[in-house]
Amino acid sequence: MQTKLKGKHFITTQDWTIQELKTIFELAKQYKLDFASGKFSHILEGKTLGMIFFDPSTRTRTSFEAAMTQLGGHSIFFDPGAMQISHGEGAKDTAKVLSGYLQGIAVRLCKYGEGNRYLEELRQHSRSPVVNMQCDIYHPAQILADYFTIIEHFGDNTRGLKLGVSWTYAPNYMRPVSVPQSLILMMPRFGIEVTLAHPPEFKLMPQIIEQSQKNAKEAGVKFTITNDMDEAFKDADVVVPKSWGPLVHTQDEKQGIALIDKYPDWICSEKRMEMTKKHSLYMHPLPADRDKEVTPGVIDGPHSVVYQEAENRLHVQKALLALIL
Ligand code: CP
Repeated sequence: MQTKLKGKHFITTQDWTIQELKTIFELAKQYKLDFASGKFSHILEGKTLGMIFFDPSTRTRTSFEAAMTQLGGHSIFFDPGAMQISHGEGAKDTAKVLSGYLQGIAVRLCKYGEGNRYLEELRQHSRSPVVNMQCDIYHPAQILADYFTIIEHFGDNTRGLKLGVSWTYAPNYMRPVSVPQSLILMMPRFGIEVTLAHPPEFKLMPQIIEQSQKNAKEAGVKFTITNDMDEAFKDADVVVPKSWGPLVHTQDEKQGIALIDKYPDWICSEKRMEMTKKHSLYMHPLPADRDKEVTPGVIDGPHSVVYQEAENRLHVQKALLALIL
């Protein structure tokens, strides 16, 4: 384990070594047990996390806020519309000023081409660690919870497990690519074989694919990309079928929705789950579009661990915050 993590930014898991990530998971196990027995800590007493949400959230906001409270610290929810950001104050001045008051700055900004750039500018100018609560490229806190859920079911040695990450239909709006990208980046580093399935127009960012292939090669595991949804389910131990926008192809909302509408059959159904291993897990970061991304029989069925996965956001984020703040 690598435990000297005070002040470390958390923008992508790619910046963290396996040993550093394992430290988060070990501490998260302890915090999950503490939570179950009603034990709270004062480890972050006097410390404050500022959380700027440019995009809506249910799980991320609540779990980060609760994490700070349960560790004896405090969090501030910032609506950028009520800050001078709305009058054009940039990342540099925001970072320099806020990091003079706060022990951590957390941001959600998913706008394609902007989110990660904003976080990187904050990182450059902040004296406090910057935490990515989802940007246009990464959603690292979600993937910590996903891996933590996997080890709860399969044990700490995840080498040889098969993960299917698949695009699904969901017609309402163009969701970010950050969840599948963070999954394919981190899971191979823990020895997990990944099959990524999507229709041709729903490619992920080329630099992320390249890095994921490199990670898989270094770990000695297979990483496969296919246009056949069933491929991601065949013999899988874990599946994460979820929707994302064709953002690499087009950022035009109307064109994007028209492309999504071409593939209503890309749904996670009971029939597809039958292709997975008997003990397989169905995971989804939520919110899920029922009857479009997934049938109620699957999301409410025996393979589903979506609420455990959502709860684990709290425990892994407590571990993260305790280590870096
Ligand atoms: N999974 C996730 O990030 O959920 P929220 O958008 O509700 O935060």
